Amino acid sequence: MTDIDWAAMADLLEREAETNFPYVEQALAELSHLTPQRILDIGSGPGVAACQLAAAFPQAEVTAVDGTPELLDRAELRAKRLGVTLRTQVAEFPAGLADLDRADLVWSGQVVHHVGDQQDALHRLTALLNPGGVLAIVEGGLPARCLPRDLGFGRPGLAARLDAATADRFNRMRADLPGTVPVVEDWKALFANTGLTEVRSKTFLIDHPSPLSEPHRHTIRRTLERQRHGFAEDLAPDDLATLDRLLDPKDPAGVDQRQDLFFLSAKTVHYGTKP
Ligand SMILES: C[S@@+](CC[C@H](N)C(=O)[O-])C[C@H]1O[C@@H](n2cnc3c(N)ncnc32)[C@H](O)[C@@H]1O
Repeated sequence: MTDIDWAAMADLLEREAETNFPYVEQALAELSHLTPQRILDIGSGPGVAACQLAAAFPQAEVTAVDGTPELLDRAELRAKRLGVTLRTQVAEFPAGLADLDRADLVWSGQVVHHVGDQQDALHRLTALLNPGGVLAIVEGGLPARCLPRDLGFGRPGLAARLDAATADRFNRMRADLPGTVPVVEDWKALFANTGLTEVRSKTFLIDHPSPLSEPHRHTIRRTLERQRHGFAEDLAPDDLATLDRLLDPKDPAGVDQRQDLFFLSAKTVHYGTKP
């Protein structure tokens, strides 16, 4: 496990997943021909996708698996609220994957990059599949955009500089993982190395145009707050001042009030079938 405090991120993870909700629906529609009996969501976090899996495949037994019990408690509450049946299981990756029962569909969203040896993680995820079962992981895609390039104040192009700081932090996160192994992140090739067939990747757009709903607006606020706090040493003083202004609830140009806020992103899902 990394030194990320996942439990502290529970609310942000759930909000982000709710904002990203449409892509999981579209990604699961690609699998509507399947009739899985058992489904695992590996690294489910607060269970947003796990509940979508349970709704999409009501005949299946769906288990949300994560290393953070507080997130699984949240997943259980969510399932109860939405009226879907969800099991939960605590497991630390990669070792804990060996204890899980086999499944016909294994979903894992934005988790493999948190494991030191990503190729080994894919081998272990593939080993969880029954013959004919499908592995679907979410990795890559495009960074989200939510504000105009020129905000009307500050130095234009803040989003690109936030992307650069995010990429640096991501590199540091990967370098610090136990047993980290550099690998070309060619997901189709990595899938093929595990023996999966019918390997394909598909990218889904998440497009919430302005005017943004309050929940999506709040997700953006929480994300910017985290970046303001986490990137204090990576960003130039003028960009930190811009973020402070964006986060000032009284400022009409801040994210709580401005009418041009939107959310645009893309997520890539990689699919493969176990022969
Ligand atoms: C970025 S979140 C993704 C949550 C969810 N799948 C989604 O797409 O919104 C990563 C999740 O993986 C879990 N996780 C990360 N590393 C882990 C590890 N080594 N063992 C177990 N769980 C881990 C975290 O607790 C967190 O819930």
